[in-house]
Amino acid sequence: MSWFPQRKQRTWFQRACETILAAGPIPRHVAIIMDGNRRFAVKKSIAKSEGHVKGFDKLAETLEWCLDLGITEVTVYAFSIENFKRSSDEVTCLMELSRQKFAKLLQERDLIHRHGVCVRIIGDISLLPRDLQELLAEAVTISAENKRAFLNVCFAYTARDDMCMAMRELTSGVKEGHIKQSDISESLLEKCLYTSQSRNVDLLIRTSGELRLSDFLLWESSFSCLAFVKVLWPEFSIWHMYAAILHYQRNKSKIQIAQQNHTIERERLQRESDYRNMMEESTLSTTAGTSSSVNLSSTLVSVEAPEHKSIQVRVQQYASEREKRIESFLNLVY
Ligand code: FPP
Ligand code: MG
Repeated sequence: MSWFPQRKQRTWFQRACETILAAGPIPRHVAIIMDGNRRFAVKKSIAKSEGHVKGFDKLAETLEWCLDLGITEVTVYAFSIENFKRSSDEVTCLMELSRQKFAKLLQERDLIHRHGVCVRIIGDISLLPRDLQELLAEAVTISAENKRAFLNVCFAYTARDDMCMAMRELTSGVKEGHIKQSDISESLLEKCLYTSQSRNVDLLIRTSGELRLSDFLLWESSFSCLAFVKVLWPEFSIWHMYAAILHYQRNKSKIQIAQQNHTIERERLQRESDYRNMMEESTLSTTAGTSSSVNLSSTLVSVEAPEHKSIQVRVQQYASEREKRIESFLNLVY
């Protein structure tokens, strides 16, 4: 099956449902754990490999629904690092399916451009066979300029591995003197994750009835609406999609408030950290004999005091130097 299957006409009832849903907020970024392919295969008495083929077909169909519904970014869990522990037959079969599908995607480059889809691969592709790495890299390269929709395929990925990789980048940045240890923050760490180019995940769907995240987008889903759907992935229908969007619409405002509060708190912590680090550096330079006009007791002075103003200016200066440091570090990382 193609990545862009023949569009199925919506029934009048489906069109009516879409019109109603469109009156509310539509999640812009949807992430999917496509679980249940093998159970589907058992249920239908077909080979496991056939279950995964049906899983791919469902993915292609779902992507078409997403484009039509105005969902502009989709992230799917195609192969976890844990999946390497499956039987070698199954791993080989999943690698072969991916080879075929990405080769097909490259043949369909006209359609990729017509739909304006940018394909990104999220994960440690060095763990994959060389020829597959090359196919994935080519799919990413040919679609890199597209901006209408984003398809992120998580391949050889786990969220904890991603976080460890990011930590390694940060520690080597500190070791090589590009950043200071105190520059490490939530916002810097997330800029080092594979998903740094993505928007927040609004809705995360997991099929098959399992109620866990299986190491998928653990950082990115902190403020996502979670929808656990009882159906096996190849059985996922447009009605399950509508229900998941409705679930998102019902929960969006509470999640948005939590997210806003978190952003405010994060900014406050950053200001506090800049203040503390600036003061510490001033103290160090004073003890080292260099001139400094900052008096530590002025931390408690009132807003009107001139010392306070001078401290504010110095904190701002410290923050802008930190931002410059981080920017040049990130230029090295990307
Ligand atoms: C989970 O079901 C599914 C996978 C581990 C593979 C998902 C892959 C696809 C849907 C094909 C996508 C391919 C490309 C090229 C993007 P499971 O195997 O865990 O089934 P189970 O939960 O019933 O055991
Ligand atoms: Mg499973």
